[in-house]
This record gives sequence, C-alpha cells and structure tokens, in this order.
Amino acid sequence: MTEDWGTILVVDDDADMRELTCDLLKDRGHQVAAAGSGEEALKQLAQGDYAVVLTDLRMKGLQGLELLTQIRQEYPDINVILMTAFGSVETAVEAMKHGASDYLTKPVKKVELVRVVERVIREASLRREVNRLRREVHKEYSFHHILGKSKPMQVVFDLIRRVADSPTNVLITGESGTGKELVAKAIHYNSDRKDAPFIPVNCAAIPEQLLESELFGHMRGAFTDAKMDKHGLFEEAQKGTLFLDEISELPLMLQAKLLRAIQEKEIRRVGATKPIAVDVRIIAATNLNLAEEVKAKRFREDFYYRLNVIELKLPPLRERREDVPLLVEAFTRKCAEARGKPVKGVSEAALAMLIDYGWPGNVRELENVIERAVTLSRGEKVTPDDLPPAVQGARGDRRVLDEAAEKTLPLHEFEKEYIKKILEKTGGNKYQAAHALGIDRKTLYRKLAEIEGTPHPEE
Ligand SMILES: Nc1ncnc2c1ncn2[C@@H]1O[C@H](COP(=O)(O)OP(=O)(O)OP(=O)(O)O)[C@@H](O)[C@H]1O
Ligand SMILES: [Mg+2]
Repeated sequence: MTEDWGTILVVDDDADMRELTCDLLKDRGHQVAAAGSGEEALKQLAQGDYAVVLTDLRMKGLQGLELLTQIRQEYPDINVILMTAFGSVETAVEAMKHGASDYLTKPVKKVELVRVVERVIREASLRREVNRLRREVHKEYSFHHILGKSKPMQVVFDLIRRVADSPTNVLITGESGTGKELVAKAIHYNSDRKDAPFIPVNCAAIPEQLLESELFGHMRGAFTDAKMDKHGLFEEAQKGTLFLDEISELPLMLQAKLLRAIQEKEIRRVGATKPIAVDVRIIAATNLNLAEEVKAKRFREDFYYRLNVIELKLPPLRERREDVPLLVEAFTRKCAEARGKPVKGVSEAALAMLIDYGWPGNVRELENVIERAVTLSRGEKVTPDDLPPAVQGARGDRRVLDEAAEKTLPLHEFEKEYIKKILEKTGGNKYQAAHALGIDRKTLYRKLAEIEGTPHPEE
C-alpha cells in the first residue's frame, strides 16, 4: 500500500485489540488513528479527515450501532466497518441496514481484516475522488450562478473576469432570457465595487415622466407631488453599480441627461441648482440592436458610444446547445429540491428533445419548461410526456428543416416536402394536415394538386 487512500480510525474499548488492529494496518502502510470509545471517536472525526471507521460493536458507553448511525448522518462520505462477536448474524444484518459498508466477525482473521478494510477504503477513496471531480466540474462550468460549458460561454466568463475590475461601462446585449441581468450581477460582484449596492433599473417599466426623478432624485416642490427632497437611484448606487436594463426604452431627452451624468460624474436632482458628485459604474443591457436604433435616430449616437465601451454579447441558447444538458441538470435538481419531488433527472428521449428545441425564450424558457416538467413528473425521471407539445415536436420538425437546408431546397420545394411530411404524420388525414399547417382545406387541396401536377378531383 503506497497510495494515500485516507486515514482509518480504529475504535475499540479493549486496548490490546485496538493496538493489535492498528499495528496490523500500519504494517500494510495505512495511516491509522485510534479511539478508545464511541464518544472519543466522534470527537476525533470532528477534528480530522477520515476515510474509514473500523469500530467494535459492543463497547462501554456509546455502542457501535449508535456510532454508525451518527456517522451516517454527519459524515456521509466516511465508510464504516463493524466488528461483531461470532454468531451474532442478526446484528450484522442490522448493521448493514444502518449503512455499514461491511462487517467482520470476531475473532477477526488477519487476512480477512486486511481484505475487507482495503476493499472499503478503496471504494471510499474512489467516491471521494468522484465527488471532488464533480465539484471541480461545477466550478469550471459555472461562474457566479451562470452556467455554461460551451465555448461562447467560456468566452463570456473570461470577459466578465477581465472587465469586472476596470471602471469602464459595459453594454450587455442578447435576446430575451439569455442571462443579461445575471451577467451584470456577476460583473458587479466580482469587481472592487462588490460591497457597494447593485441597483437595477428597468427603463421600460418606469413611466417616462417619473424616470428622471427616479434616476436623479428631486427637491421638495420641484413638481406638484414632490413633498420632500428625495434622492434618486444614481445616488443610491453611490460607489456601486447602476444596471440600466432595456436601455433602448430610455427617452432621448433622458439619454442626453444620462450622458452628461456619466461624462461629468455628477448629477442634478430635479429642481436642484447644485450638482452632486457621483461615483457609479454603468452597466446597460438591451435585447435590441442598438446600432440599428442609432441609425433609426431612436437612440443617441454619442450616448451609444459612451455606453458601449465594451460590448458583452450573450449568445442565444440555440447557438450553444451543448449547454442544454448542464442547465437541464441544474434546473431539475433545484426545482425537485424546492418542491420535494423525487425527480433525479430527465430520460434520454426527453433530453434529446430539449437539446433539439429552438428556445426562442432562451434560458428563461428552459427554466420554465423544466419547472413545469418536474411539477408534472410522476417518477424519478422527466419523460417526453412531461414536456410541452412545442418541445416534444422539436425533434422531427428540426430534422425536416436540417435536411432541407442541407439540400438547399428552394422554398416551393421545401413547402412540397413539408406538406408531404405533415401528411405522413397525420396518416394521410387532409383535414388534420390542413389544420396543422394553418391553412384551409381548399388551399391544401390546391397545393397538393400542384405537387402531383394534376387537378384535384375535389376542386
Ligand atoms: N447561463 C445561465 N445559467 C443559469 N441560469 C441562467 C443562465 N442564463 C439565464 N439564466 C436564468 O434565466 C433567467 C433569465 O435570465 P436574465 O433575467 O438574466 O435574462 P435577461 O437576458 O435579462 O432576459 P430579459 O431580456 O428577458 O430581461 C433567470 O432566472 C436566470 O437565472
Ligand atoms: Mg433582464
């Protein structure tokens, strides 16, 4: 035994037996510690790192079985082997039921002791290794609650790390549900501003006439409802981060004021004459193409360049399908735990559908789909039946599309193929096919006639 497989704790109130066992295991090259009672063993376990406990069953004070039960509860990673007196098979069975890894009957033969202990310690060490790897994988594939193992997400993690500590403004772009707010938080909480507030503002949710006073605050009497001086979100975010979500919805007039605030590092409450110095980092987000908005004169060009010092583009989920299994696993676990359901994962068929689906609502949609599936699920695994029809249909539908794109079919050819497929799916039922295609029956007949090149009898 040369490898380091962890320490064995030998528990026995008979000093001679204890020493004998310890020496034997030490001779085999193991690291061994000893305890003279169950109570002492618990004390040692709380202080050190052990892989296996080898304990006598009958002892003064805390008995072996009770010790076993406590270890199972408090240290599920530690394997326990019990030593019982010859002939007490019932107790041995009882011990296994309570989660012992194995048992030895006294008088214990040397070879038997070595064989059992070494098998158990090898198992324990393997399990610890697997757990360690699992933890590592999770660390690597997640960054401040953002999960992703795909290349584009690894690039995002890397960018977050690099921009976090710089004072520059960041523009986060991406479709709805791609995790823009999550990324904004990750930047803030990885920056040296993390102990100051992160203040999110949804520019689309606050009525235009209130937005200015929300952002900059106001002085008493500045307008009819201004009964008291009030500070705005800018001041609330002092030394921290102001997250301007849906920035495209900000009225042009306020864009100008914000631009000034960013440039001069000071703001003016509505109705105030004196400016207030602010030290706030701006992170903005949008699911629109801001450059297009600039072109259409709906967004100020100078403001755009000021915000967009660094752009962080979040890829849609359909462009990083390799992240789907990871997200599915995490959401399933989280949801099953929250609802106390025994769901442990998803079936292979269900996972295939989840990977193939287009996810127009991105990660948020996936999260909702999993929540629904876990709620509906009746077993340990989510099955295709637990998924919404749109997701269930993804597999076949995408294959048709992929095949068509592969052959670069012209649109009318594709239409032909698609109609045929749908008809196959409905078993030739034209009524159902027309319904599925969203056209009336007459139109379907006409198209079929075109496909077959003959006038249809019903026309
Ligand atoms: N990579 C990810 N890993 C784990 N959870 C994610 C990830 N991306 C998004 N989510 C989750 O999906 C949901 C939507 O994320 P978020 O609100 O950040 O998206 P968004 O881009 O701001 O969407 P919207 O444009 O609709 O506001 C949240 O519950 C978030 O926790
Ligand atoms: Mg958002």
